[in-house]
Amino acid sequence: MASVGLVAEIAAGLCAAQANVSPKYFYDAAGSALFERITRLPEYYLTRTEAKIIETHGEEMARQIGPGATVIELGAGNCEKARALCAMIRPRCFVAIDISADFLHQAVDGLRDAFPSLDVRPVVADLLGEIVLPGDVPSARRLVFYPGSSIGNFDPEVALTLLGRMRGLLGNDGALLIGVDLVKDEAVLEAAYNDAAGVTAAFNLNVLQHLNRLLGADFDLTQWQHRAFFNRQKSRIEMHLEALHETRVAWPNGFRNFRRGEHIHTENSYKYRIDDFAGLLGRAGFSNSLRWTDPEQWFAIFLARP
Ligand code: AVI
Repeated sequence: MASVGLVAEIAAGLCAAQANVSPKYFYDAAGSALFERITRLPEYYLTRTEAKIIETHGEEMARQIGPGATVIELGAGNCEKARALCAMIRPRCFVAIDISADFLHQAVDGLRDAFPSLDVRPVVADLLGEIVLPGDVPSARRLVFYPGSSIGNFDPEVALTLLGRMRGLLGNDGALLIGVDLVKDEAVLEAAYNDAAGVTAAFNLNVLQHLNRLLGADFDLTQWQHRAFFNRQKSRIEMHLEALHETRVAWPNGFRNFRRGEHIHTENSYKYRIDDFAGLLGRAGFSNSLRWTDPEQWFAIFLARP
């Protein structure tokens, strides 16, 4: 079971007029493994497009950043992208920050094996909370690395606050390297979140299993179905779980009756236009930025400096 505060936060979301769950609850061990499978799906273009941009423009990125930096990766996950980045820019210190402790420690061990002379530091933290770095992490020439378009999972105003915090971690000689998914054809976007193999559906539904454990709830997964669509007006993919029948969900000290068709909003994934994201960086205190994209302009990587 989760802490009293966390339980209250989750229960309040489930009881809200529009029921909702924070996407951070996707990432228990099963959810993290499902997300890894998502990144390899043919429909999920984000990961491979970003990797291809790094492969194609890596030399220029490395030249801009220079060797010996301290890389701080946010939401490090399996550290796969970190490997490509470290091979390219040869940092002196690598701080891997992630919310999932088990996953992080495994990934960090792999990184140490691959780069024995690299000073690797795992830090377990929720990006929405305070990020406290170990005191001896070098403060000069920091590079905050936030790949995967995870910034898209926050509403733009929250994204702005987060970018401001990243700016705060940098000092005046640092930089931010960030991946951002771009607006594109609706069919391409919707296919990426409705894959034929059903992995994204399993990832979405798994959050209910996680809530059963965290909250002591009794969600019956067979009563719910995955829904994902592009909300053009808000420029975001929305993921929901829709009740297939009238259903009652209970947990210690609470319950909710869901009508057939009622849904729980589980995630937003904002898709940006390049200029809009550059504007957000400007508002967060970054005064100049370079950017690279793939030939179809599906994804962008920004290197932003204070
Ligand atoms: C982690 N994040 C960038 C993913 C995304 O595309 O928004 C999470 C995800 N949700 C469904 N598929 C992948």
